[in-house]
Amino acid sequence: MMSRRDYDLLVVGELNVDILVKGDVEPVFGQVEKLVDSLQVCGGGSAAIFAAGAARMGLQVLFASIVGDDLFGRLMLDLMRSAGVDVSHVVVEPALATGATIHLLREDGDRAMLTDLGSIAHVTLDLVDPDWYYAVRHLHVASPFLLQGLYPSMPDMMRSAKRAGMTVSMDTNWDPTEGWHLPEFYEHMDILMPNENELAALSGQPELGAAIDAMLERVPILAVKRGADGALGAQGSAQIETPVYAVDVQDTTGAGDTFDAGFLAAWLAGGTLHQSLLLASACAALTMTQVGGFNGQPGWEEALALIESQTPEHALGLRALQG
Ligand SMILES: Nc1ncnc2c1ncn2[C@@H]1O[C@H](COP(=O)(O)OP(=O)(O)OP(=O)(O)O)[C@@H](O)[C@H]1O
Ligand SMILES: [Mg+2]
Repeated sequence: MMSRRDYDLLVVGELNVDILVKGDVEPVFGQVEKLVDSLQVCGGGSAAIFAAGAARMGLQVLFASIVGDDLFGRLMLDLMRSAGVDVSHVVVEPALATGATIHLLREDGDRAMLTDLGSIAHVTLDLVDPDWYYAVRHLHVASPFLLQGLYPSMPDMMRSAKRAGMTVSMDTNWDPTEGWHLPEFYEHMDILMPNENELAALSGQPELGAAIDAMLERVPILAVKRGADGALGAQGSAQIETPVYAVDVQDTTGAGDTFDAGFLAAWLAGGTLHQSLLLASACAALTMTQVGGFNGQPGWEEALALIESQTPEHALGLRALQG
């Protein structure tokens, strides 16, 4: 039995692996075999990378999901546990195969993805115990367009969370169907965290300023990820831009999700929008220094060290937020 607000974050999402292939990765049909530079199996899934990032930042994270009784499922549960995420309620279903994505990573930094949804399609609201809405402070929804089994219930889930006194955020990630349809989603959201392209698509406004204005009509706080151009936060009439922290970028997988984790670590600690963007940017930059979404995710000390080294004027205020 959980007592009131034992957890900071509830995440309902996919557990799947990323298979990262680097080098001359463009496949040639006609049974042509190519040798690549490297092939690595890593933990994947936007929600999972986010949850692990948040746990590394000291948040108490409750993760609801379903996996197959297979190698990939066990790998994912292992990874989540070692990041400090509570996966004790994750369902193991022998009839399912744990989802997987192959990332073909080109030397120019671009990538192509191939996904078998597997267990991801079986993530539904049934995995959520309604008591949890009273035991957790914040609900984060990641990848609504990929979670086909949960998508129709998401507005209900967010409504229940809000009614129970939780705050709610969402990172839409990309919509493979490019419909960008989120009916009755926005009214339950405190924070929306898309990247710039997703924001344009969601709002129907290709120009950034117009897109922000349009989305602020629907959601109180926006945190927009702009790749190497940094991040932009908007709330009411306030708008803040933060540049990236300069690091040796190895792999951008999961940077957006780890950004979300850093943002909420600051925001749930009572940080301002600006502080939340700074911590988010530091977390995103650090995870990019290693290959794989789970690798390189920092704790507070590591994130603060980066902030101290490049924007010392902000370090003290952020350090004060550290629990
Ligand atoms: N080259 C870089 N160096 C340092 N930080 C970076 C760099 N590129 C991006 N970032 C940081 O990572 C954040 C998130 O990256 P991005 O804009 O690619 O998000 P995203 O598209 O949601 O990512 P994802 O593909 O993981 O969903 C940026 O807002 C920025 O703070
Ligand atoms: Mg993203």
